[in-house]
Amino acid sequence: MLIFTAIFLLCACGQDMRNQPRYDPYQAAPGWPNDQSARMPVEGTVSRNQAVETRPTTLPEPLSRELLELGRERFDIFCSPCHGGTGNGDGAIVQRGFPAPPSLHSARLRNAPLGHFYDVISDGFGVMYSYAARVPPDERWAIAAYIRALQLSQHGSLEDLTPQQRRELERQNQGGKAP
Ligand code: HEC
Repeated sequence: MLIFTAIFLLCACGQDMRNQPRYDPYQAAPGWPNDQSARMPVEGTVSRNQAVETRPTTLPEPLSRELLELGRERFDIFCSPCHGGTGNGDGAIVQRGFPAPPSLHSARLRNAPLGHFYDVISDGFGVMYSYAARVPPDERWAIAAYIRALQLSQHGSLEDLTPQQRRELERQNQGGKAP
């Protein structure tokens, strides 16, 4: 008997919770402003569906050594496990079976605007997931700038150097060959 009473009481509780008085969205509610259960959105409200994020396609801040160093640090932490330290796509995770990313040194990615790297970090790309939750926007730009520096590092030519830098390089090379 006791158990039936307990079940009865519990069921009654459940119904009470479900049937408590409440308003449905936009239901008429005399006495409230507009006689509606919902308030009007404040002026200037933009719906989430309408909001269009405008992203710059180029670096929104001046390029600096600090920015590149931040980019290198973040790239080494978040990207190199798959993309490899130089961006060749041979990171440690790939060597253990994760699909290999394309080399960041392909002609297509060398010609891509920095904003493309920003977008890939923000939204993910194919099987690569988004890093938006882990890498804030300013660090995404830093990484994008560092990727460009990595690309230049793999495609430099002697002509990019001043005569003095060339002499310095030759001197170092000869030093390297010494017994
Ligand atoms: C877990 C492995 C992994 C990590 C970590 C990773 N990526 Fe990727 N990434 C990939 C794979 C795999 C692809 C190729 C995806 C595809 O084509 O489906 C890719 C593709 C890319 C591309 C090429 C997009 C194109 O246009 O082809 C860029 C650029 C890129 N990643 C940048 C980054 C950056 C920057 C980071 C660090 C914030 C990062 N990735 C971290 C695996 C990874």
